[in-house]
Amino acid sequence: MDDLRGRVAVVTGAASGIGRALALGFAEQGCRVVLADVERDPLDETADLVTTTGVEALAVRTDVTDAESVEALAAAAVERFGVVNVLCNNAGVGGGGLIRNAQLVDWRWVIDVSLWGVIHGLTSFLPHLIRSGDAHVVSTASVAGLIANPGLGPYNAAKYGVVAIMETLHHEMAADPDANVGVSVLCPGEVRTNIATGQRNRPRHLQRARGERRPSNHEARRRNDAIAAALAAHGKDPAEVADLVIDAIRRRRFWVLSHPEYLRDVQHRNESLHRMENPTLLRPLFT
Ligand SMILES: NC(=O)c1ccc[n+]([C@@H]2O[C@H](COP(=O)([O-])OP(=O)(O)OC[C@H]3O[C@@H](n4cnc5c(N)ncnc54)[C@H](O)[C@@H]3O)[C@@H](O)[C@H]2O)c1
Repeated sequence: MDDLRGRVAVVTGAASGIGRALALGFAEQGCRVVLADVERDPLDETADLVTTTGVEALAVRTDVTDAESVEALAAAAVERFGVVNVLCNNAGVGGGGLIRNAQLVDWRWVIDVSLWGVIHGLTSFLPHLIRSGDAHVVSTASVAGLIANPGLGPYNAAKYGVVAIMETLHHEMAADPDANVGVSVLCPGEVRTNIATGQRNRPRHLQRARGERRPSNHEARRRNDAIAAALAAHGKDPAEVADLVIDAIRRRRFWVLSHPEYLRDVQHRNESLHRMENPTLLRPLFT
C-alpha cells in the first residue's frame, strides 16, 4: 500500500503508548482513523489529537477481550467510513511473575487481552479488509514472542501465539488469489509507554485471590518495577515505533522489530534448537 492518504485505519489500544503513536502516525499520513480502547478519557484525548491534524477520527470504547465489543467496533467503522484498509491489533497487557506463583486469573487476563484480542480483531475485520481490495493488518507481539524469558510466562505464551497466528496468516494471504491483504507482526523491545501500569485495566473478576494456596506475588512486583525502570531509562519513543510500522505497511514487510539487536538472542535460541541442546539465555532480561 504505497499511499495511505484517505485510507481508513483502525487501531486498538489507541488511548496510550504505541497505539496512540500509531493513531497519530496514520493521521499524519492523511488516513481517517478509528480508535479503540477500554479507557474512555484518554481515548477521547487521542481522538482530539488526531482531529487537530485535520483528518476524521472515530473513537469507540472497545474491550478486545469481548468478541461482541470488537464486532461492534467493526460495524461502527464500516458504518462511518464504508471501508477498512488497515487494522492494528495493538492492545495488550503485560504482567510478570514466576509460573510457580501464577494464579489462573493471571494467565486468563494476559491471554484474554494480548492473544484473544488479536483473534477477535482478525475474526471481525478480515472480511472487511479482504473486501476493501487493498489492505494491511499488523498485530503487536513483542520480543517476548521470539524468546522466552523467565518471569513472563503468560505474556510469552500470548506473544508467541500472536507471532504464530500472524505467520500463518501471512502464508494464507499470500496464497489467496481473492485477498490483497499485507500482513505484519510488530515485535517491540523496550518502548516508553504505560505498559508497566497495565494492571489499571485488570477487571475485578480477574484480580488475584489473596492468601490462597500460592505464595505472595512479591517477585511479580519486583519484576514489574524492573521493567518500568528499564522502559523509563532506555525505552524507545513510541513515535519511532509507529514510523517503523507505517514503513512496513508501505513496503509489505512482515517483521517489524524496534530493537533488531534482540535477533542475536533469537539466533542463539534457534541454534541451540538446531543442535537439540537444552535452551540457555544469551542474557536474561529484566532481572
Ligand atoms: N512498551 C513496551 O516496551 C512493549 C514491548 C513489547 C510489546 N509491547 C506491546 O505493545 C502493545 C501496546 O502496549 P503499550 O506498551 O503501548 O502499553 P500502554 O499500556 O501504554 O497501552 C496499551 C493500551 O491498551 C489498552 N487496553 C488494555 N486492555 C484493553 C482491552 N481489554 N481492550 C482494549 N484496550 C485495552 C490500554 O487501556 C492502553 O491504552 C501491547 O500489545 C504490548 O504488549 C510493548
